[in-house]
Amino acid sequence: MLSYCEVIKFYDAFGKRQDKQFYEKAAINDLIEQGQFDEAKNIIEFGCGTGKLASRLLACITPDSCHYLGVDISQTMVSLCRKNIGSFSERATCYKTEGESRIDAPDQTADRFISTYVLDLLTEEDAISLLNEAHRVLLPGGYLCLASLTHGISFVSRIVEILWRRLYQLKPFIVGGCRPINLKKYLQNDQWHVVHDPVIVSYGVPSEVVIAKRL
Ligand SMILES: C[S@@+](CC[C@H](N)C(=O)[O-])C[C@H]1O[C@@H](n2cnc3c(N)ncnc32)[C@H](O)[C@@H]1O
Repeated sequence: MLSYCEVIKFYDAFGKRQDKQFYEKAAINDLIEQGQFDEAKNIIEFGCGTGKLASRLLACITPDSCHYLGVDISQTMVSLCRKNIGSFSERATCYKTEGESRIDAPDQTADRFISTYVLDLLTEEDAISLLNEAHRVLLPGGYLCLASLTHGISFVSRIVEILWRRLYQLKPFIVGGCRPINLKKYLQNDQWHVVHDPVIVSYGVPSEVVIAKRL
């Protein structure tokens, strides 16, 4: 795994190139379609990156009154996100963390918790702690909306997964610390009701999308 320092080093340097990750597009479109964002009132995003998803949601999909809070460990990403959500500054904000899963938000105040292509670079312990945090900040009935790299489901996507794993084993830095995981495995049955969980293959790369209702 990459340490927090290595993650910061990678994503501070990677910056805007994150938005060119073509294989993420199909999974993120699915997450937007299934996450009922047209009814969202208060969104929290962990590992918000450049704020591309946030600005898309705020500009075209969520109600005009919807609030947004993004957090990220990389100062470069936080600066890019602040720029991207700048025109919604009276209701959208973003801050830098030190890597901890704790989010500066009261219990049961958000109705959407998003994290795309982040759990696949966290340790298992951090991923579980993040999902507990998502459970704490979400209102009952609120939606957890996740996407990540996952295991292949077809010949091509299995080959891609094998190659990706090889690169990861060789040097996690090459692939930004991300490795294929099974998102659903992290969700506890007494906390979440999974309503949508497809594997979407785009350009041979398999991604898992999870939409789960907070119990
Ligand atoms: C692969 S990028 C995904 C960015 C964005 N969610 C997207 O889908 O384009 C991973 C992001 O998670 C952030 N990140 C990684 N570990 C983190 C942590 N422990 N706490 C907060 N942000 C983290 C990185 O800085 C980076 O912006």
